[in-house]
Amino acid sequence: MVMSAVPLHRAAAAADAHERSVTLLGATGSIGGSTIDLVKRGRDRFRVEAVTAGRNAEALALLARELGARFAAIADPTGFPALKQALAGTGIEAGGGEAAVVEAAQRPADWVIAAITGAAGLKPTLAAAERGAIVALANKECLVCAGTPFMRRAAAAGATVLPVDSEHNAIFQALGAGPREDVRRIILTASGGPFREWPLAAIRKATPEQALQHPNWSMGAKVTIDSATMMNKGLEIIEAHHLFDLAPDRIDVLVHPQSIVHGMVEFSDGSVVAQLGPPDMRVPIAHCLAWPRRIEGANRLRLDQMANLTFAEPDLVRFPPLRLALEALRAGAGAPTVLNAANEVAVAAFLDRRLGFCDIAAVVEATLESSAAGGLLHEPADMEEALAIDRDARGRACDLVPQIAAKTN
Ligand SMILES: NC(=O)c1ccc[n+]([C@@H]2O[C@H](COP(=O)([O-])OP(=O)(O)OC[C@H]3O[C@@H](n4cnc5c(N)ncnc54)[C@H](OP(=O)(O)O)[C@@H]3O)[C@@H](O)[C@H]2O)c1
Repeated sequence: MVMSAVPLHRAAAAADAHERSVTLLGATGSIGGSTIDLVKRGRDRFRVEAVTAGRNAEALALLARELGARFAAIADPTGFPALKQALAGTGIEAGGGEAAVVEAAQRPADWVIAAITGAAGLKPTLAAAERGAIVALANKECLVCAGTPFMRRAAAAGATVLPVDSEHNAIFQALGAGPREDVRRIILTASGGPFREWPLAAIRKATPEQALQHPNWSMGAKVTIDSATMMNKGLEIIEAHHLFDLAPDRIDVLVHPQSIVHGMVEFSDGSVVAQLGPPDMRVPIAHCLAWPRRIEGANRLRLDQMANLTFAEPDLVRFPPLRLALEALRAGAGAPTVLNAANEVAVAAFLDRRLGFCDIAAVVEATLESSAAGGLLHEPADMEEALAIDRDARGRACDLVPQIAAKTN
């Protein structure tokens, strides 16, 4: 369930206040860049508290200066000296290492965008939620890895979790059209990625360059590869399950190559309420950034210039990661955690050319089997246990990468 544990009036008051303080976790990334564009356009409404990056100290220092941030944190400790030097004399504090990124999330900002990629985003995102912030959640891996403990701890802290992922943001908006008990199902749309019409034989030979060419969206490398394998949609189903507290059989996927309808909610009377918008992440980010109000986001949608909006069932044979994610969600317990960890390892190996495109699914499936055989698919009782399952699965997946690559070569 998207939490409005924070009463709406508090969020509205924050939005009405002259300035909303914001922290950008993953400021140097694609979502970070779209957020910064909106923040710069609303300089009189937003003040930047902290910005973070993984390794790119130079870009982070530039952003911190440009945005007038109070604190900048780099996760890679080796980047700290360069960051500190680049910020010398600016009055902007610098921090290095994982703990500094968590500190950035803990600093008092009304609103935090969680846009670090992968499970690395979990601890800082949780830190923001645990102090009751409004968390605009882009980092879906965090919910896939530890959805139940994350949502529980965020609710206990009175945090508000707003979905940035365009599909979930669409569902969030459409859910407002009727009572929760009258929701029959939700439908997430998928572009189908660059290989939507490719035969399996061609998909098997896909290169990182081809997989990184997304037809509609400009995104970071990991999520772009996930879109090409359709694991992204699988992760999003798991994300939706946690955000909206819906059983797996009430979450459907339709392939919609135009990426204009982002999500739909079907109600018991047969009404289907959809959210439409251009394929531009500034639309859902703007919705979260100004929530519960609205600000300028992206260019107007020109439906009159569109010949077709089409919808089709996904193909689970050519895109097995979607099937694996559905199975992991139905299996529950630690399976989604293992799925996510193995996928992160396999995508990195594919981008490094140590693995073929179809081997990504093979590594994920084999890691799930190996973890199940090791009795390691139990429900993580808390965040620490989820992280332990994640670590174990990463180790298993790393061992499986060369074995699976050798088999297919
Ligand atoms: N891009 C989209 O359109 C889109 C849409 C929906 C959801 N999402 C989700 O949003 C998240 C971010 O996606 P993105 O496309 O913006 O990714 P991205 O362009 O790769 O950016 C990732 C950000 O995370 C930082 N980072 C990487 N590893 C880190 C680590 N270990 N510790 C701390 N920071 C780290 C990066 O810093 P460096 O630059 O220093 O590496 C960068 O700032 C993902 O979970 C993705 O699934 C993205």
